[in-house]
Amino acid sequence: MKILVTGGAGFIGSHVVRRLVMTYPEYHIYNLDALTYAGNLENLTDIDQAPNYTFLKADITDASHIQTLFETYRFDKVVHLAAESHVDRSIKDPLAFVRTNVIGTMNLLNACTSIWKEDTENNLFYHISTDEVYGSLGADGLFTEETSYSPNSPYAASKASSDHFVRAYGETYNFPFIISNCSNNYGPNHFPEKLIPLFINNILEMKPLPVYGDGNYTRDWLYVLDHAIAIDTILHKGKVGETYNIGGFNEWKNIDLVHLLCDMMDDTLSRKRGTSASLITYVKDRPGHDKRYAIDASKINKELGWKPSVTFEEGLKATIDWYLNNKTWLEQVTSGDYQDYYTKMYQS
Ligand code: NAD
Ligand code: TYD
Repeated sequence: MKILVTGGAGFIGSHVVRRLVMTYPEYHIYNLDALTYAGNLENLTDIDQAPNYTFLKADITDASHIQTLFETYRFDKVVHLAAESHVDRSIKDPLAFVRTNVIGTMNLLNACTSIWKEDTENNLFYHISTDEVYGSLGADGLFTEETSYSPNSPYAASKASSDHFVRAYGETYNFPFIISNCSNNYGPNHFPEKLIPLFINNILEMKPLPVYGDGNYTRDWLYVLDHAIAIDTILHKGKVGETYNIGGFNEWKNIDLVHLLCDMMDDTLSRKRGTSASLITYVKDRPGHDKRYAIDASKINKELGWKPSVTFEEGLKATIDWYLNNKTWLEQVTSGDYQDYYTKMYQS
């Protein structure tokens, strides 16, 4: 079984690659990644010598390179994670999101349909998506697999578009696909532009913690290893043509989460309680900021038996410890271009 994972050098992808390489020595796992600012092979140094692992540097927007790779390796299944993934970047440069998330996904779909003509039984295109395609919830209710798409950010619109193309290929070409839509992930190897790793890094450096708007925005948080387990479960037990929502049953208002993180960091760093919270700074709101995301993950729970394995406190503690024990990783990814990014995003 040859499994292609795209975006395997990124945050979630690296955890998926590690899990598949270590759990299934009988499979060969190919990790295709363009190594953008978000891709880092340092995330995989513990498994990169494994006999069932191969890294392929490629850009999914390059249709002819992608086609050549599919003809050369003839992958049986694809787990597609490669994407531009940060909402704030999508507000500054929406076209980059169309290129990678929409056209890149199309190139993969076309490469798959070209080599999977005779045998779709053993083939699967598993598309990893986000709960952000559903838009924003009010105070009540949860996103189910039946919730209509209503994306509000260019990122969410590009992911929604790619989800639609995947489903359309299923209807039109009898193409074997599964889609999963997951809530916000957190954990080791998370690039410090997203809320939790950015704030961990700023607390370490005693820099301001920029809370958007009034901080009363709600997200549902899932530990990244639990997402990797869900992806493994769906890859092996999911039904072709289905969509599965994945979530943490774990809703937090941003400001409450930030206070919890500050207290945990103060304790871990032996700082006086309140030291980190004094860094909280309310800043201009994100345009089009979605008020609340919350996932109903009962389908994957009932049909495939998956549920999160760690509590938020356990996951957050493990995450903080990982960043403290991997300061070189953090320094490496926050040098160079990161400084320009930070100035552009937060000093204007
Ligand atoms: P990430 O930004 O950390 O990693 C993305 C990876 O894709 C990087 O390794 C990058 O180099 C690679 N990549 C980007 N453009 C590419 C291109 N043109 N060709 C090849 N590779 C390219 O993202 P992540 O947070 O790990 O998210 C992975 C997937 O999961 C995405 O599809 C995202 O939409 C989805 N998702 C993320 C979350 C979350 O909370 N992070 C939640 C739900 C769904
Ligand atoms: P983020 O981690 O960017 O994920 P997403 O936008 O995909 O949900 O942001 C999570 C929440 O935190 C979101 O409501 C925006 C907010 N946020 C801040 O308040 N300050 C920040 O610096 C960042 C990056 C996010």
